[in-house]
Amino acid sequence: MLRSVLRGTGSALPARIVTNAELAQQVDTTDEWIVERTGIRQRHVAGDAETTGTLATAAAANALAAAGLSPSDIDLIILATATPDRTFPATAAAVQRELGCGIGIAFDMQAVCSGFIYALATADAMLRTGMARHALVIGAETFSRILDWTDRTTCVLFGDGAGAVVLSAQDVPPDGPGIIATRLHADGQHEELLYVDGGPSTTGTVGKLRMQGREVFRHAVTNLADVMEQVLNETGFASSDVDWVVPHQANARILDATARKLGISPDRVVTTVDRHANTSAASIPLALDVAVRDGRIRPGNLVVLEAMGGGFTWGAALLRT
Ligand code: UT7
Repeated sequence: MLRSVLRGTGSALPARIVTNAELAQQVDTTDEWIVERTGIRQRHVAGDAETTGTLATAAAANALAAAGLSPSDIDLIILATATPDRTFPATAAAVQRELGCGIGIAFDMQAVCSGFIYALATADAMLRTGMARHALVIGAETFSRILDWTDRTTCVLFGDGAGAVVLSAQDVPPDGPGIIATRLHADGQHEELLYVDGGPSTTGTVGKLRMQGREVFRHAVTNLADVMEQVLNETGFASSDVDWVVPHQANARILDATARKLGISPDRVVTTVDRHANTSAASIPLALDVAVRDGRIRPGNLVVLEAMGGGFTWGAALLRT
């Protein structure tokens, strides 16, 4: 059967690290509060020369090297981001140019923190229907540029970074590698719980992130457990078959609560929220790259990716490495 096979992963982080202690000098917060409520200890913050596009390009170059493919092999680039370099054109087109990929399909995808799952599902569908052969799927964000740095309820939670994967359409046996299933959901009723208060068509400004964290938290645990259960049940797998869960890294307590609901041990959950904070669409491919490079995720593993974010949007992907 034709499947989208994971060929390589890569990531890139801004050079500057901002610790909780440093933030506590700017807003009324403490390292203890942030660690206890979120698990976050530090985040990377982009400098003037670092943008979503430069981070995405660096992450994609690393993923291509890991895959052993060259830029000219890539005929599809989907970049998940809510913080593009420009309102248009798509940052994916800049990545294509900077890597020297040549002419192909390139576009951005906007599903905030679920963006990488949405992009992965879209690339998978396009690869399996023959629209492309080798895809770069990237999650890249510079949320530091849309944070209200005087609002302690949001500014301590997010960070910048990028992660990327290379997928290739390959004929594989049913128990072979590749994306087995994806499930996507959106429910526009909860827009006011997590949004940015600006945009090109309304205020003409970029705007700042606003969130009612406690409410988002409640929805996140329920929706994530449901969609993971769905992707497993519908493909005939049990949670005990899963080698690794690579979740969107919003809050260590969400990761723990979701895993507990499904009876998955915390040692099978890849956690990077302590170092990266919440990097929105970048968090899953960043965490995936960490776990592939440190040897935890190995060929033949069954891996679940899951995310939930503004919209609300949420989704999960089940794949074999
Ligand atoms: O990626 C997209 C999805 N996003 C998420 O999944 C985020 C989901 N939400 C969360 O992760 C958590 O709700 C937060 C980490 C945002 C907040 O944790 P919480 O345990 O839900 O705290 P809370 O909002 O109920 O606030 C508790 C208290 C409040 O004080 P009062 O009203 O009880 O006096 C806040 O004002 O903590 C206060 N607080 C802070 N204190 C110190 C809020 N932010 C801070 C802070 N430092 N940075």
